[in-house]
Amino acid sequence: MRDTRTAVAMKAAPELVLRPGTVDDADACGRICYEAFATLATGHGFPPDFPSPDVAIEVLSGLISHLGFYSVVAESDGEIVGSNFLDERSRIAGVGPITVDPAAQNAGVGRQLMIAVLERAKDRAFAGVRLLQVSYHTRSLSLYAKLGFDVREAVATLQGAPIALEVDGFSVRAATEDDLGACNLVCALVHGHDRSGEVQDAIRQGQARVVEHDGRISGYTTGIAFFAHTVGETNEDLKALIGAATEFGGPGFLLPLRNAELFRWGLEHGLQVVQVMTLMTLGLYNEPTGAYLPSILF
Ligand SMILES: CC(C)(COP(=O)(O)OP(=O)(O)OC[C@H]1O[C@@H](n2cnc3c(N)ncnc32)[C@H](O)[C@@H]1OP(=O)(O)O)[C@@H](O)C(=O)NCCC(=O)NCCS
Repeated sequence: MRDTRTAVAMKAAPELVLRPGTVDDADACGRICYEAFATLATGHGFPPDFPSPDVAIEVLSGLISHLGFYSVVAESDGEIVGSNFLDERSRIAGVGPITVDPAAQNAGVGRQLMIAVLERAKDRAFAGVRLLQVSYHTRSLSLYAKLGFDVREAVATLQGAPIALEVDGFSVRAATEDDLGACNLVCALVHGHDRSGEVQDAIRQGQARVVEHDGRISGYTTGIAFFAHTVGETNEDLKALIGAATEFGGPGFLLPLRNAELFRWGLEHGLQVVQVMTLMTLGLYNEPTGAYLPSILF
């Protein structure tokens, strides 16, 4: 087996060691993740993405132990100073969360953590890599652009009370394993590729829902939530799925702002804008030909 630790470390600055993450790193990485986002958000007058260190530790622990994610940890003088993740469950890879200890930021650690996952994506021949960037953070915006990511669109995080409505002719139900093929077809129709691994995870966790229209599946969601995505042939599919959600998990769900009709519909139903994020892509990208809500990973 290849010694990834040595291979990556040789490409990084001499004092910085990059290596794959292990479950033992979850505590330190989770604390840094919480601190990095909380320091950034409160400094700009926004609520933190993670409400507490414990939530960040739990999320990162889940990512480190998930076989569909690649994790990389940065150490300086034997101390963990940051981490990054690559969602490898689909043909398109998703980056993040990337976080660097506030005391070690703006000194090149983030760049090395990004290069590590981009090299991994290249080695694994992913057709494209995507991420959602916190729009008010000028540093991450500049870093990602310098590494080759293009800005695609602005996306709002929306939060509020459940809308609790039904759309005539569009019925929503829990997804089962038998629906996987139909969900993948909808995603391929809209995005040009499926997100099968994520859909399978969400079905197993009981989070996935499908919407049926004219006797067939016309959309699905892995959860109307920050870490989940939704795809539909039309905005009516998305309205039915959002309308059926009993909560919007995490800081909120993500809605592309150029979908003006759906954005206004959400606002008219009492949703609040928490913050704006930027979808950035590297490599293969197809303009969506239907309606969608990205996850925080892409
Ligand atoms: C985002 C983050 C991971 C970046 O890591 P970092 O170690 O601070 O960043 P680096 O020092 O490696 O890189 C910053 C780059 O942006 C450049 N930069 C910073 N501010 C800039 C600005 N206003 N305009 C142009 N370039 C800027 C730096 O010059 C540097 O470029 P270089 O690599 O070509 O030298 C880190 O700041 C962090 O944890 N932030 C809080 C959490 C977060 O926002 N995560 C990302 C969510 S999208």
